[in-house]
Amino acid sequence: MEKYLIQGGKALAGEVHISGAKNAALGILAAAIMTDEEVTIENLPDVSDINALLEAIAGVGAKVDRIDKHTVKINGAGIISTVVDYDYIQRIRASYYLLGALLGKYNRASVAMPGGCKIGSRPIDQHIKGFKALGAKVVTENSMINAEATKLKGSHIFLDMVSVGATINIMLAACLAEGKTIIENVAKEPHIVDVANFLNSMGANIKGAGTDVIRINGVEKLHGSTYSCIPDQIEAGTFMCLAAATKGDITLKNVIPKHLEAITAKLVEIGVDVMEMDDSVRVSCSKRVNSAIVKTRVYPGFPTDMQPQMTVVLAIADGISTINENIWEDRFKYVAELRKMGSVITVEGSTAFVEGQEAFYPAKVEAPDLRAGAALVIAALAADGYSEVTSIEYIERGYEDFDLKLRNLGASIEKVDVSDEKAAQKFRMSVV
Ligand code: UD1
Repeated sequence: MEKYLIQGGKALAGEVHISGAKNAALGILAAAIMTDEEVTIENLPDVSDINALLEAIAGVGAKVDRIDKHTVKINGAGIISTVVDYDYIQRIRASYYLLGALLGKYNRASVAMPGGCKIGSRPIDQHIKGFKALGAKVVTENSMINAEATKLKGSHIFLDMVSVGATINIMLAACLAEGKTIIENVAKEPHIVDVANFLNSMGANIKGAGTDVIRINGVEKLHGSTYSCIPDQIEAGTFMCLAAATKGDITLKNVIPKHLEAITAKLVEIGVDVMEMDDSVRVSCSKRVNSAIVKTRVYPGFPTDMQPQMTVVLAIADGISTINENIWEDRFKYVAELRKMGSVITVEGSTAFVEGQEAFYPAKVEAPDLRAGAALVIAALAADGYSEVTSIEYIERGYEDFDLKLRNLGASIEKVDVSDEKAAQKFRMSVV
């Protein structure tokens, strides 16, 4: 187990290269096993969630060749099992995408039931509803979801709520179903479009990804492809908030500014300068930001995965901010950690009221989950003095080389083993 040692209080500046989108890559990697031909995926983020899904994919018998840090070749011809057990689901919840992928390709799949997680209960009833509509018999037994069909047939599906996971999972199964599938009330996130584009590059016939309705004409089989994942909108947003919180000047390279619009708009509203270029964005901030009202919404609204990072920016804003979380029921756990850093935040149900303070105090805090962990690192980098962030394995699920990228922007941050007191002492000596 490792932790970050941080000496904060510097305005961070420079350039950062944004990695491929984790949540797009998870759907794309599952889709890649749906052909018996070779698929090459580029711009893959080198993060532990991706590596865990690749292990799950190899676990069912697909050939997985990691060409380099960001490129993988997958061949699903050798798949010998359609069972994904609890061990993989426990490590990476998104291995439930293998349910849609295996069901679509082999008409059967068994995947361990994903449990709840630290941001709220995470039901998958909409995924199951979609598979059933396509003609699969779905039975949950001994914590396994077993889906089986003689033949999947296209259907008209209306999702009861907008779900990223259900949209991707049903899309995967439907692209090899017989006939036409229409899925209404779907998620429109950039990674939905990316997974659809990838499937189309393999010969699928999917239209409407990025709108409320996806139309799929089933095809007999999919073929090999080479595809590059889109940049990670949430990693980008995290560095944007970092620039705002540390009153820095950071240029993000390899981004799609359109995907960042909700984040950009909120930062501009509170007084941050954001300059958009073709595939880069420069974010700078020279004064204390203003307070704001933030409501998380499905895309193109403000992303829930940016809620903790934006709260950190607003915790040092001038005035009282209101953060309304509309996607996950329990996404304010990190507030207790921010309070240790001097933040004044009250949570009532799904709303946090943030009384902006002049600054953060340095403190020892623990990452409660992936995005909140990154948010606490931002707070520690903004705080003038020595902080520690533990449980960083959460952060490493979704941020590639986070400490390295931060050091390149001028941050004093080291990753050490939690028990390595000597390294911690050395770090503290080096930064005084
Ligand atoms: C994905 C993202 C996650 C992000 C979330 C919302 C991945 C790997 N993860 O998660 O980082 O926070 O989108 O943008 O891409 N729901 C149901 N029944 C279902 C499915 C969902 O009730 O069958 C509810 C959930 O409880 C939640 C809401 O719908 O309240 C949104 O969930 P969903 O969009 O499915 O999130 P994930 O795909 O799990």
